Amino acid sequence: MEVAETIQSIRSLIKVARDSGKNIGLVPTMGALHIGHISLIEAARKKCDYVVVSIFVNPTQFVPGEDFDKYPRPFEADLDICQKAGVDAVFAPAPEQMYPAENITWVNVEKLTEPLCGQFRPGHFRGVTTVCTKLFNIVAPDIAFFGQKDAQQAIVIRRMVADLNMPLEIVICPTVREQNGLAVSSRNKYLTEQQKKDAANIYKSLQKCHQMIDAGVKNTSEIIAEMSKILQQIPSIEIEYINIVDAETLRNIDHIVGRVLTAVAVRIGPARLIDNILVDAAE
Ligand code: PAJ
Repeated sequence: MEVAETIQSIRSLIKVARDSGKNIGLVPTMGALHIGHISLIEAARKKCDYVVVSIFVNPTQFVPGEDFDKYPRPFEADLDICQKAGVDAVFAPAPEQMYPAENITWVNVEKLTEPLCGQFRPGHFRGVTTVCTKLFNIVAPDIAFFGQKDAQQAIVIRRMVADLNMPLEIVICPTVREQNGLAVSSRNKYLTEQQKKDAANIYKSLQKCHQMIDAGVKNTSEIIAEMSKILQQIPSIEIEYINIVDAETLRNIDHIVGRVLTAVAVRIGPARLIDNILVDAAE
């Protein structure tokens, strides 16, 4: 496995791979790798001959006051995970590589970035779309892999790629969960064992939503009220939002129809956690 810390060195590695006829897969990450990231690497290995994992804690997607400084950076352990997962190259640039000067050029996806996390993290998605554009330009992958865990991010990136005719495919992989249902996340490292148990109620609330839709409940306020009850029982959980939206437009809906995305964001102890499910409602 090669480790490239500069744009020039990752580009030379990729040129060699491409010249020998290999197709390139990219898994963008911020490190602190876990089984969720590994599932993306595995998906990439199935579809691509040369798999690149980027590890970059992107400063421009953190809103002031967020956890940029304390975001975990276990670099050696991450390299070990990549090596064992069969990654061909890790691209781990220093911030000065990615942002050598004040950044004044941004990629901004409208509308889809306004609801859900967009309301609570102003500027976050602009940072994500900008850094992903830079990574796509640097690595020039045939396919880039993202997780359903960050549903809004995946939808926004897919739309950006379509709107700007970026020459790559976006593959979205299912959310990997702990046994108790908690979606695996680098930010779970901030939680105590008790808080992790409490956080399992996020998925319980999403399952409740799924059951209600399956049982034919159409009124979204009714579903959100039941989900809130589950989360409000847990004193350590502070709800940021519970939204049921159209899975394509991300607009709030009153009445369940077609494919819906139910998304939850909570604060628990020092962490902000998000999770979601996609449900296809029967007509
Ligand atoms: P990060 O939080 O490190 O996540 C990297 C990728 O792993 C994302 O596509 C995310 O959706 C996916 N992922 C995280 N937890 C997952 C889980 N439990 N199951 C499946 N996939 C999971 O998301 C980012 O980094 C950044 O915003 C990034 C796209 C790298 C841009 O900086």
